[in-house]
Amino acid sequence: MKYPKEYLDEIKARVKVSTVVSKTVNLKKRGKEFVGLSPFKNEKTPSFTVNDEKEFYHCFSTGEHGNIFDYLMKTQNLKFGEAVKTLASLAGMQPYLFSKKDEEREKKFNEYVTIISKYVDFSHQNLLKSNNQKLKNYLYKRNLNKHTIEQFKLGYVEFDTKLFEEFKKEFSEDALKESGLFYFDENKKIFVDRFRNRLIFPIKNIVGKFIGLGGRIIEDKDYLAKYINSPETLFFKKGSNLFNLDNARKLSNKINSIYLVEGYMDVIGLAKNNVENVVANLGTALTDKQITILTQYFDHVIICFDSDTSGKNAALRAAENSVKELQPNKKISFLFLPENEDPDSFINKKGKTEFLKFSEENIVSIYDFIFNSYKQKVDNNPSSLAVFEKNLRNSANSIKDSFVKKYVLEFYLEKISELTPNLKKEKKFYLKRKKSLNITQKHFEKTKSLTSIEIKEFSILCLIIKNLKFFNKNAEQLKDIKLFTQENMLIFEKIKNSLGKQEILNFEALNLDPKIIEKIFDSSSIKYILNKGELGESKMIEIFNEIRRDIKNYELEMRIEELESKFSNDFNENTFNELKELKKLQKIN
Ligand code: UTP
Ligand code: MN
Repeated sequence: MKYPKEYLDEIKARVKVSTVVSKTVNLKKRGKEFVGLSPFKNEKTPSFTVNDEKEFYHCFSTGEHGNIFDYLMKTQNLKFGEAVKTLASLAGMQPYLFSKKDEEREKKFNEYVTIISKYVDFSHQNLLKSNNQKLKNYLYKRNLNKHTIEQFKLGYVEFDTKLFEEFKKEFSEDALKESGLFYFDENKKIFVDRFRNRLIFPIKNIVGKFIGLGGRIIEDKDYLAKYINSPETLFFKKGSNLFNLDNARKLSNKINSIYLVEGYMDVIGLAKNNVENVVANLGTALTDKQITILTQYFDHVIICFDSDTSGKNAALRAAENSVKELQPNKKISFLFLPENEDPDSFINKKGKTEFLKFSEENIVSIYDFIFNSYKQKVDNNPSSLAVFEKNLRNSANSIKDSFVKKYVLEFYLEKISELTPNLKKEKKFYLKRKKSLNITQKHFEKTKSLTSIEIKEFSILCLIIKNLKFFNKNAEQLKDIKLFTQENMLIFEKIKNSLGKQEILNFEALNLDPKIIEKIFDSSSIKYILNKGELGESKMIEIFNEIRRDIKNYELEMRIEELESKFSNDFNENTFNELKELKKLQKIN
């Protein structure tokens, strides 16, 4: 039994070689290719390359070479059929069962594609030689030149085509009906051409086969829909295809990002201006399937919908649908163009450079977009805020990847706490109290305006100054302490430099400003302990170590905070790994 070529090609188109290989080999990007240590040989220098564009891998030290199916067969010891099944499921495709049904479906699909392709060819040739003045005016008005018309194989068929009769010579009536190109007019009892009198946009599937059409009227008439699309058929599923996907995906080795726009003309407008990493959804709401396809090829999806209310609402729905699919190393952003502009009109007026500049300066991350969209609906009352928080929690909880989910939730909650400063203060106070040392818990009114790290720094300085004799002999204890406040840092350096130089070091010899000393003693949270009288040396060391650890942890905390905010923006895997390490460290301390 042989798998149909179409089926295998679709798997290959949907699953990148690097996606499959990187499950077992650590790959690094190098130019258009990826390199890594060969899974076929024990080696120290990478000789193994993966090329997604050419859909193969190659090992220079063993000569092993092949596609994704070969790779699974050789590295996992699978039979061909098993490899196909595994990869089909990874591609989100139905298994091919070699049943009668599968075979019929395959035959039907081929016939379907043949009918659509023939129609596309015919309408394209017809457009090129047409003398229809209205059509010509329209093409001129939309700035559609011969090159663009040929690139997208745009077409046109006249009102009075006899195409159905023509096609019937070759295909059955049922097959033609199922192609969606014709519909039966009950009044006139004839089959009519659905796309007559419209500028035709052929739609290809991911491997480049024609599977459907879009059509735009060339003369405004209220009683006609501006755009129509092929009806949903067995082989034309709007929610799992995208206009221009077959072309755009080929760019994914050179470009990291893809624009997702609303209309056919937007794709064409951008492509005409040399922005070719663009696709459009097909007149329906964006689906998670479409997002999964795009993130498989591109790291960054930029969704560019209209700026009006309906565009914004559609964008929020798209955001809710696509946030679910986010993986740690993928990014989704939204771009809203100035009022009354769509990508087509904007780039035709301003050109590629301006468009890219505007895009770079105005994109918002999906998280900010979701947050802000819900925020706009909040009135300043408790129950409205509660709904707001609930919406955001639901949105975060819909995310499938548990790491992304965790950080998005934290990101939202942190942003909510910024909106509700009273709640935040309590939360922070609670956290700090829980974390602070038992012996530094006695917060004095005066020190309230100091940050917790300042208090700790004052405490350790106070402890050192009061035990100069000990530290003069044991100067190495201060070696790896790092203070953060500028003033304290200077004092600390001054003390450190005086230590260990003379037998007896006294307080006066440090030559510190008495006012500063007073402030240190006053603000130190351990002054009560110290004022109680002589501490034993071991107790003193114990306290010293505790504060030192706290200060060290603060450094960690700062770095973690910094990374967390970075991660909420870039969702970069390296950032995440560093975070994980630091959190582990924090636990040990
Ligand atoms: P728009 O109405 O925003 O199109 O529809 P546009 O880009 O401004 O079109 P032009 O510039 O006037 O030609 C965007 C997309 O929504 C779908 C189509 O897929 C269209 O490309 N649509 C729109 C429909 O399916 N039916 C319609 O009646 C209108
Ligand atoms: Mn438009």
